[in-house]
Amino acid sequence: MMEQSPRKRVRTRHFQTAKENGTPIVGLTSYDQLSAAIFDAADIDFLLVGDSAGNNVFGYETTLPVTVDDLIPLTRAVAGAVSRALVVADMPFGSYEGGPDDALHTAVRFMKESHAHAVKLEGGVRSAAQIRRIVDAGIPVMGHVGFTPQSEHGLGGHIIQGRGEGAEALLADAHAVEDAGAFAVVLEMVPSAVAARVTAELRIPTISVGAGPHTDGQLLVWTDFAGFSQGRTPKFVKQYANLTKVLTDAVTAYRADVVSGAYPAPEHEYEE
Ligand code: KIV
Repeated sequence: MMEQSPRKRVRTRHFQTAKENGTPIVGLTSYDQLSAAIFDAADIDFLLVGDSAGNNVFGYETTLPVTVDDLIPLTRAVAGAVSRALVVADMPFGSYEGGPDDALHTAVRFMKESHAHAVKLEGGVRSAAQIRRIVDAGIPVMGHVGFTPQSEHGLGGHIIQGRGEGAEALLADAHAVEDAGAFAVVLEMVPSAVAARVTAELRIPTISVGAGPHTDGQLLVWTDFAGFSQGRTPKFVKQYANLTKVLTDAVTAYRADVVSGAYPAPEHEYEE
């Protein structure tokens, strides 16, 4: 956890001091008010309203169909529930690839309509002009390089990035994000040794999503870390709870109680 006074809002400058002090930065995704309030109370430093909502809220197979209009109400719910965490809105596929004007338009919508504190977008060298334009407008940007889920078809699937000769391209992407003015960069599904090199070379903090321990922070998709996802979770995820089992047990007990007449009991009734 970052070390600024308790309950004071985490700002992008705290990310920089955390890197300088060697204090790990801790992030989770969140898509709703209830989880956001719990994570904020637990001093999670930043909450990403990821386009992983495509898989975890809307039931899509990929993040590609997610729109800005889908994410704005989710981000507003998360931003409204926190008093400390920095809230980052993910810019979905199709909302910034058209160029810097397109990207700025989307980022401004997120800041005005969702009350996010920063935005995130995918891509290194290819997205540098977009990052620069958004940063120049006073909006903090978190970059995202390595495996970028919005390009999963172009990349040929969920494939580790930065292996072998790919390491130089990954470094170039990370540097492009830093040079464009981003305050932090997510490294997704990158070999640990390559992530360590990026972290040593960059001035801005690196945040690992499956990029090992030698980064300045960690980020997990909350439904993965809490065991509330459908299907297989990636190798890099540590599951800290089994919410699917907790909820399955609860709903099974509720149904049985209604069927047997055990619920509602007298203590659940109102008197005249
Ligand atoms: O949408 C998301 O959750 C993300 C993280 C996995 C980095 O982009």
